[in-house]
Amino acid sequence: MDLLLSDKTAFISGASAGIGRSAALLLAKEGSKVIVTGRRADALEALVDEIAATGAPEPVAIVGDLDDEDACASVTSKALEAAGGKIDILLNNAGASAPMSDPWDEAHWIRAHQLNFAAARQVSAAIVPGMKERSWGRIVNVTGAMVGPSMNAAAPAKAALQSWSRTLSIELAPFGITVNTIAPGRINTEQIRNKLHPSDESRQAFIDRFIPAGYFGEPEDLAILMVFLASPLARYISGAAIPVDGAMLRIG
Ligand SMILES: NC(=O)c1ccc[n+]([C@@H]2O[C@H](COP(=O)([O-])OP(=O)(O)OC[C@H]3O[C@@H](n4cnc5c(N)ncnc54)[C@H](OP(=O)(O)O)[C@@H]3O)[C@@H](O)[C@H]2O)c1
Repeated sequence: MDLLLSDKTAFISGASAGIGRSAALLLAKEGSKVIVTGRRADALEALVDEIAATGAPEPVAIVGDLDDEDACASVTSKALEAAGGKIDILLNNAGASAPMSDPWDEAHWIRAHQLNFAAARQVSAAIVPGMKERSWGRIVNVTGAMVGPSMNAAAPAKAALQSWSRTLSIELAPFGITVNTIAPGRINTEQIRNKLHPSDESRQAFIDRFIPAGYFGEPEDLAILMVFLASPLARYISGAAIPVDGAMLRIG
């Protein structure tokens, strides 16, 4: 199936690893120009080299932290410059789990909220006007668990991201722009393997209890849906919140 993505430019946050990296590779394979961002320059350079070697449109890496509004504005203006002002596809993927040793640590709440919700809003604020002008756009926001068994500052931020996305989908539908969210369950990426489930035993215990499919997903399991939602073919899918989780049993 031709996903009709070859004349599109995509901006992908959190592309130095995991799900975002996989989405960038798949979009490039479909012929899109990709602009990738993250904090690790070396990882982004490796990705850019890998994509460039395939003959896909010249990818661009922008190193930056999405830790405050000014940082988001700086990353986004560099991305728009690299794209000649035309970003058609926005994958707000950067994010991180934020477990709390002190559930009242206000600075921790603010940091997690910035990365897991505000950054998506701040980046969109700069990119959506161009999409509106061209009457075409695709936004995919990556959420995650919205309620946890113990306090995790990322969860309410992800819930806010989903709520905001749904309303944004209503406001932008008349402009030919779709907005969807994807909620990963447990996907084999750095933050899951290194932080949340560092041992085979802890992974297996979680799988036995919560994942009927019997295994953690791979980044490609998410990326394939991101790429489809980014396609012109997905024009009538908007405002959806789609779990990709092997039928995971969730709290809340
Ligand atoms: N994997 C899962 O099972 C799972 C479950 C629920 C939700 N999610 C969500 O899925 C999305 C992708 O996560 P992943 O699992 O692929 O994680 P990952 O492999 O740890 O990758 C996270 C990406 O986000 C970037 N990032 C993190 N903090 C950043 C910051 N302050 N500024 C800029 N970029 C930052 C990282 O790049 P640098 O380190 O280079 O900055 C990296 O590229 C996240 O929103 C995450 O919350 C994943």
